[in-house]
Amino acid sequence: MNISGIINGFSKMSKEEKLELVASFFDYPEKALRELKSYWHSDPKKQTLFDEFSENTLSNFYFPFGIAPNFLINGKNYMVPMVIEESSVIAAASSSAKFWAERGGFHAEVVSTEKIGQVHFIWKGDPKKLEDAMPDLKKELIKGTKPITVNMESRGGGILDIRLIKMNDKIEDYYQIRASFETVDSMGANFINSVLEEFARLLKDFLLKDKRFKGEEKDCEVIMAILSNYTPDCLVKVYVECDIKDLKIGDKDMVPEKFAWKFQKAVEIAQIDEYRAATHNKGIFNGIDAIALATGNDFRAIEAGAHTYAARNGKYQSLTELSLENDRFHYELNVPLALGTVGGLTSLHPMAKFSLEMLGMPSARELMMIAASAGLANNFSAVRSLVTKGIQVGHMKMHLFNILNFYSATQEEKLKAIEYFEHQKISFKSVTDFINNLRTPHSMEVKS
Ligand code: MEV
Repeated sequence: MNISGIINGFSKMSKEEKLELVASFFDYPEKALRELKSYWHSDPKKQTLFDEFSENTLSNFYFPFGIAPNFLINGKNYMVPMVIEESSVIAAASSSAKFWAERGGFHAEVVSTEKIGQVHFIWKGDPKKLEDAMPDLKKELIKGTKPITVNMESRGGGILDIRLIKMNDKIEDYYQIRASFETVDSMGANFINSVLEEFARLLKDFLLKDKRFKGEEKDCEVIMAILSNYTPDCLVKVYVECDIKDLKIGDKDMVPEKFAWKFQKAVEIAQIDEYRAATHNKGIFNGIDAIALATGNDFRAIEAGAHTYAARNGKYQSLTELSLENDRFHYELNVPLALGTVGGLTSLHPMAKFSLEMLGMPSARELMMIAASAGLANNFSAVRSLVTKGIQVGHMKMHLFNILNFYSATQEEKLKAIEYFEHQKISFKSVTDFINNLRTPHSMEVKS
């Protein structure tokens, strides 16, 4: 593909024009067009819906939608919908869910649900005067945003607090209005950002009109107004627990005590070493992101907030903790999760809606507990494999189909491969050799 020069006005073109233009950059434009169109939805109305989620939509990008059954969370059973491309994630979640369902399940609790937004501004005037005026400014901000907050208040949410934060020791004349919000069942990004942009306007207005400032609004320059994806007070806690002696993990060479000891070391390593911590936490997000995607939530926001939380002590660390006191294995995850079950894509995307229906139309709090449980489940599965047989056995078992599909294996070849690799080590090379061997006409063996 060779693209030279800037393309102007692309977004203004019709979908057909965009498709033609993009296809023209390929060696075989007709083939490229056919490929893109082959992933269109057969129902034009549904395709229009997908088209309108984003700009410049040409086609759809398929990801598998699967289910991890047997999630017992606070005594309630869930079939958890997951959208994920990594072949072993749903298998890992399911195996862990079943393991813990037989040991009391996941115990989850929402610790808090507060979200944060900020108006960042430069104030060159008298800092004391601004501080003293804060109670009046706060009243103005609350009153002035009523048209935006009234609906949220009727649902039990709204603005919780507004504070002036002095940060002029870090950047000259820099201040923030930091507000906290309750957004109930919505993730709340649009609500919070609308309120904050109005705050920015009301701040300037206040400085212009309040007698104490005599039009000093020119000394105030708003830099930006935006929510924070760091939500340490939108926190969920989940743990699993059992007697150490009950940690029978199906590996005859690993007694429960040895397994618990190795597991503890693995978690300790993720506490002190950021290289390991990043991978350890990635295993948690295998579960959380898959649910976020399946329910139409913003997984980038969730990851940003939780990774910041993982570094809250000044060093990036594991989000999970293990205790082995009183011969009990207690494994816990604390993670901020700003999830929503109303608004955004949650009810617009037909499959997100389906996922939520499947979960019994949970509240945002319930979804936080489900997602955190899946995060802990995936992490437990990963660490269990790592400290026992290693992850590649299970991972490659699930990856076998990807390699076979790479070679466009037929159904017959796949069945032969499954049988053969039941007892053989799977690697890209071993599968390649197997396929080549299968496809090579063998000369008749001549017995002498
Ligand atoms: C792979 O997607 C996730 C793991 O690397 C997580 C971990 O190492 O704990 C297996």
